[in-house]
Amino acid sequence: MTSLQTAGGLPAAEETVTHSVTVQPFAQEIACEEGETVLEAAVRQGLFLRYGCRHGGCGTCKALLADGEVATSGSSFALSSGERAEGWVLLCSSRPVADCVVDVTSMELTEDEFRAGDQVGTFEAEVVEVDALTHDIRGLTLLLREPPSMTFRAGQFVNVEVPGTTQVRSYSIANAPQDDGRVELVIKLLPGGSFSAYLESAVAVGDRLRLHGPLGELKLRLSHRKVLMVAGGSGLAPFLSILRDMERRGRPRDVELLYGARRRRDLYRLEEIERLAAAIPSLVFTPVLSDADGEDWSGETGLVTELIARRFPTIEGYDAYLAGPPAMIEATVPLLTDRGVRPANVKFDAFVPSVP
Ligand SMILES: Cc1cc2nc3c(=O)[nH]c(=O)nc-3n(C[C@H](O)[C@H](O)[C@H](O)COP(=O)(O)OP(=O)(O)OC[C@H]3O[C@@H](n4cnc5c(N)ncnc54)[C@H](O)[C@@H]3O)c2cc1C
Ligand code: FES
Repeated sequence: MTSLQTAGGLPAAEETVTHSVTVQPFAQEIACEEGETVLEAAVRQGLFLRYGCRHGGCGTCKALLADGEVATSGSSFALSSGERAEGWVLLCSSRPVADCVVDVTSMELTEDEFRAGDQVGTFEAEVVEVDALTHDIRGLTLLLREPPSMTFRAGQFVNVEVPGTTQVRSYSIANAPQDDGRVELVIKLLPGGSFSAYLESAVAVGDRLRLHGPLGELKLRLSHRKVLMVAGGSGLAPFLSILRDMERRGRPRDVELLYGARRRRDLYRLEEIERLAAAIPSLVFTPVLSDADGEDWSGETGLVTELIARRFPTIEGYDAYLAGPPAMIEATVPLLTDRGVRPANVKFDAFVPSVP
C-alpha cells in the first residue's frame, strides 16, 4: 500500500511505502515502514515479540511466514535450509515487500505478554575489571548500577551499546546468576570491530556502559538426557555460566564439554574448568587444538567436529548446546543430528558479527 499519493494518483516524490503485517495468533495488524524489519515495527507499535541479538545470530525471533513476501537482510544464519524451505523467517532480518501474515505461535507468548510491549531491560553498568585472558580475548567485568541487579538464566546474553553510538553488540554472560549485580563477559577482539577497538584502546575502569537484556534461549532445559556442550573460542562463556550455576545449585547433570581452540595460547580459564570438573564429577572436559604442530600438547587435536566423529559413533539421547564461531556451528549441527541428536534438542548461539 502506498501511504502518500499525488492528486493525480501518482506517488509523490517523498512517498513512503508501508506494508501491513498481520501477527497471528493474535490477529494484530501492524504497519511496517519501508526499510523496517517486522521486529522493529512491532516494538515501535508497543508490542512484544521474542528477540535476542537482532541480527540473525540467535534464532530467538523465528516465526512462520504464512503469507506474503519478505526481503531478508543481514545474517539469517540461525535458520537451516530446511526451515527456510518450510517458510520460517527471522523477524529481526525480514523486511516486508508485500502485505504479510506471520505466525509467532512458536514464541509461546500469552496475549498479555504480546500486548505488554518490549520487556527487555536496560541497565547502566560500570567497568570494574578488564583482564587479558589470551592475546585476543578479554574478560570484561561489569557491576550493574541502575538498576543494581539483573535476573537471568545461565546461558543467556546481553546486548552492550558501543560507547558513543546506539549500536549494540551481543555478548554471553559468563558468570552464574547468583553473582548479584555482576556481569562477566568474555570478548574476542575482532580486527576492525567497533566494540573491539573500544576494548583494545579506550576502556578504563569506572567507564559506564549501557546493556540490554537478558536475552537468548541457550538455557539448560530440564531433562534427564545427557548434555553435550560444544564451545569454540569465546563461546566458552555461556557454558562457564551454566557450569558455575550447576556447581552453586548442587544439581549436577552428566555433561561432556568439548572446547575447541586453535593453539595452546588460545585456551583460557582451564584452571577454573578443572576446578569445576572436580566439583561436578559427572563433568567430562576435553579441550581440542586444531593447530597443535610444534606445541607442547598431549591432548586431543583436530577440529571439534573430528573429535565428535571419533568419540561418538552415535549420540542418541543427548541434549546438545553449541556456542562460538558460525563456521563451527554450521559444521557441527548436521554432524550431531546425523548421529542421532534430535534437531529439537540442539540449541546454539552462533557468534555472528553484527556488521552494521
Ligand atoms: C547471541 C550472540 C552471543 C554472542 N556472544 C559473544 C561472546 O560471548 N563473546 C564474543 O566474543 N562474541 C560474542 N558474539 C559475537 C559478537 O557479538 C560479534 O562478534 C560482534 O560483532 C563483535 O563486535 P565488534 O564491535 O567488536 O565488531 P563489529 O564492529 O561488529 O565488526 C565485526 C567484524 O565485521 C567487520 N566489519 C565491521 N563493519 C563492517 C562493514 N561495514 N563491512 C564489512 N565488514 C565489517 C569487522 O572488521 C569485524 O571483523 C555473540 C553473538 C551473538 C549473536
Ligand atoms: S533476534 Fe533475530 S536471530 Fe537473534
